Amino acid sequence: MLVRAPATSANLGAGFDCAAVALDLWNELEVTDGDGVVVEGEGAGELPETTDNLALRAYGLLASTAGKRFHFRNRIPLERGLGSSAAAIALGLAAAAPEASAEELLALGAPLEGHADNLAAALVGGAVLTWEGRIAKVADRLPLAPIAVIPDERVSTDGARAALPREVSHADAAYTAGRAALLGAAIASGDPDLLEASFGDRLHEPYRAAGAPHFEAIRADLPPGAAGVTISGSGPTVIVWARPERLPGCAAALEERYADATVVALAVSPKGVL
Ligand code: HSE
Repeated sequence: MLVRAPATSANLGAGFDCAAVALDLWNELEVTDGDGVVVEGEGAGELPETTDNLALRAYGLLASTAGKRFHFRNRIPLERGLGSSAAAIALGLAAAAPEASAEELLALGAPLEGHADNLAAALVGGAVLTWEGRIAKVADRLPLAPIAVIPDERVSTDGARAALPREVSHADAAYTAGRAALLGAAIASGDPDLLEASFGDRLHEPYRAAGAPHFEAIRADLPPGAAGVTISGSGPTVIVWARPERLPGCAAALEERYADATVVALAVSPKGVL
């Protein structure tokens, strides 16, 4: 059994905890008869090679891990806001129950993750909205191209969530609701101008900017060809959204400006875990 699960970028600006995309960057898991856990690539020497491994915990919700060997080949960096834990959960669930529906797997996996958006996108691919255990895959792709600017430092999602205020003003809620409505319309219509207009959030990005070191600088001075920037999940990675025809120049400008980060031009993956 060989399964692979994509990286994801959650929130997409104003879609806090309800919008995400799958990205064309994959972790793989091979499950064979035998014993043991091997982690290669990202997280090697760090992620547990025991039944405590998050993917094995997910697998164990549906099938016994006994008598199985789990071999991971990971490419999604850890704790960078690119959905490495959602990918691990998706791998474990899909390897244990390949015939289960995405919403069945989401119900099992979301408690392990604490929120549903990354996992929903990792399970079905494309651009998704998720609410109350449901998943709507609204589009296979987006009309702007994601470029990830990935700092070396890490951010724990639990810490980043704990730093959010318990209450926000009505004005900030209204602003964000308006942008979230635009985001949904942009995904559904595939209109790049609507997507550009949707970039703006007052529920989480203002409180996370300090932990996403390139966010404010990029937002204040977008490189040529960029339509906007979002914090990927809880950061520290930011996604710069480029006009597709201007992607190479935009990525080159980011590489030149931010030599301290890894700049990767990615694509939205229409496929989820397979
Ligand atoms: N929606 C979640 C958050 C995603 O922003 O905390 C975490 O990757």
